[in-house]
Amino acid sequence: MPTYKEIYSQAKKRLEEAGIECVKSELLNIFWYCFGINRLNLIICGSDIPEATRYNEFCRVIRQRCSGVPIQYAIGKCNFMDMDIDVGEGVLIPREDTSVLVNASLDAIKSVKNPKIIDLCSGSGCIAFAIERGLCRSCDVYAVEISKKAFKYLSLNHKKYDSKVNLINDDIFSCHRYFENGYFDLIISNPPYIRSDDISKLQSEVLLEPHLALDGGEYGLDFYENICKLWIPKLKSGGVISFEIGKGQYNDVREIMDSSGITNIKAFLDINNIYRAVIGERV
Ligand SMILES: C[S@@+](CC[C@H](N)C(=O)[O-])C[C@H]1O[C@@H](n2cnc3c(N)ncnc32)[C@H](O)[C@@H]1O
Repeated sequence: MPTYKEIYSQAKKRLEEAGIECVKSELLNIFWYCFGINRLNLIICGSDIPEATRYNEFCRVIRQRCSGVPIQYAIGKCNFMDMDIDVGEGVLIPREDTSVLVNASLDAIKSVKNPKIIDLCSGSGCIAFAIERGLCRSCDVYAVEISKKAFKYLSLNHKKYDSKVNLINDDIFSCHRYFENGYFDLIISNPPYIRSDDISKLQSEVLLEPHLALDGGEYGLDFYENICKLWIPKLKSGGVISFEIGKGQYNDVREIMDSSGITNIKAFLDINNIYRAVIGERV
């Protein structure tokens, strides 16, 4: 059995040969996940030998990563707003940019007591659980996801965080009927928003993520249009609707919201200075 130091240099070489970017930080991540060892421990315990089962798990992760599987799928986890969200094939990997949407939405409803909230197109549930945590559970949250595979991860994360979020495995374009008009204080969504024709141009790693999570129709706007049509009546007067958007979609989404009776529309930038979240209020 090789030592940690030997394992590190062999894996580094394999990842570099496979064309993986940022090899050092990924490898340290994998070391932490498989062996519970950080950079300092690696220096101090470099000549030690790991347990065989941990080493086998490490080899599996490196093999998958070298064949192009995203690191989050290979290790089965993704960090989002200080939560360890379980992910795997069939569910979108939460992106750091989505924290812009969560923080702006939390701020917009901070004065509402025990708000009623729905997260449409919930995927792993990263938004719903971050909102529930951000409000210290003084809220009533629903999360809707259509895909059976994604719903499995939504349920796993729900259990992991002992969450009180109400999970609904259904189509957002039909389950609006379960709720009376004027029910919600916040409707939040990170829907599929890539133009259908642009999907094949995405990075190969992104293409391993579910098509259902990406395809926003011909102009990437189908979900914004249909959510506004079906769900705005479910908002209270003065209630907030918030969307994550893709690069260059701000004007179009703003127009859709504006023509659906939403006012006080504001946009929020991500760390790359791209408008990433749009928020407005029902009159
Ligand atoms: C862009 S992903 C967002 C996932 C998660 N909210 C996040 O931020 O990581 C969109 C999600 O919408 C789901 N979805 C697509 N069409 C849907 C529909 N008609 N009803 C409910 N969920 C849908 C997909 O399965 C996917 O999980």
